[in-house]
Amino acid sequence: MQSLQELLKTHEQDIQAFAPADATELESYRIKYLGAKGIVKQVFGEMKNVPVEQKKDAGQLLNAFKQLAEAKYEAFAHLQSSNKKADKAVDMTLPGTPLPTGTRHPLRMVENQIISIFEKIGFSVATGPEIEDDWHNFTSLNMPEHHPARDMQDTFYVSQNPDWVLRTHTSSVQARIMEQGHLPVRVICPGRVYRNETISARAHCFFHQCEGLYIDKNVSFADLKQTLYYFVTEMFGPDTKVRFRPSYFPFTEPSAEMDISCTVCGGSGCSLCKHTGWVEILGCGMVHPNMLRNFGIDPEVYSGFAFGMGVERITQIKYQVNDLRLYSQNDIRFLKQFQSI
Ligand code: DAH
Repeated sequence: MQSLQELLKTHEQDIQAFAPADATELESYRIKYLGAKGIVKQVFGEMKNVPVEQKKDAGQLLNAFKQLAEAKYEAFAHLQSSNKKADKAVDMTLPGTPLPTGTRHPLRMVENQIISIFEKIGFSVATGPEIEDDWHNFTSLNMPEHHPARDMQDTFYVSQNPDWVLRTHTSSVQARIMEQGHLPVRVICPGRVYRNETISARAHCFFHQCEGLYIDKNVSFADLKQTLYYFVTEMFGPDTKVRFRPSYFPFTEPSAEMDISCTVCGGSGCSLCKHTGWVEILGCGMVHPNMLRNFGIDPEVYSGFAFGMGVERITQIKYQVNDLRLYSQNDIRFLKQFQSI
């Protein structure tokens, strides 16, 4: 007990005399007295050598010592905190930390490119709903119920209403525009479409299309060809060749599909063009008279052309993306590659 008292006394004198000048001295004090291996811990360790009958007094002495050591530290704690504040002070002259910014999605970039190419020749943008009714998605487009062409587009139906579908193509927007009855019409209709397809590298249950519609007096197939030729040379470069193949769509007559010369191999044959030198990029045709009649437009007075292209397809050709799933996986390594476009 006595040796403990003596030990504490010398430490107490040191503590009382202690007056730190800065945070470093205060920190050395903290480590020396209050740290995990500090003196306070050590002297408490002496308790085991104190005889039982003196333990109570020894406990009081030790506690008083501990409080003294702590109080001293507290008295100078402002050194610590003021120093911390200085650490946190903002130096307004330093350059800021750059935040990485996001980029547009490649499909959106290509959609914007398509829009601006058509805007230059007087097309404006029109949109329609993704949940569509049977009339706008099929029937008014000359595809009545039981028409075999409906089979080409495996459809998602909306359970709340048997008449509703997730639109299978942006041609539904054509119907909505014609219904408004403002002629002439020159619109481009970008948007998302849905089909009940198993997801793979080549098919997806949703994708994007861009529809075009032009109705006026005296619109001819030559206008259609020239408009689309203008589009591909703007999109893929002036050397791009085009060819039209006869095709069938219920809402156009005649109908065609347009191919462009392969932008990867230039025609010599590669996997993109399946060694044919040509890649298909869109469907098109002259608006079917039945469709005009469905919206009260006289086919003897007005004629028009329409076309529909897949935005994924254009992007695939332009940037050689070989797996459709990449567009919706949100993999930053893929998305970042389009930063500079
Ligand atoms: N709607 C068609 C499809 O999804 C594409 C299409 C073909 C649109 C010919 C048109 C057109 O406007 O004239 O397969």
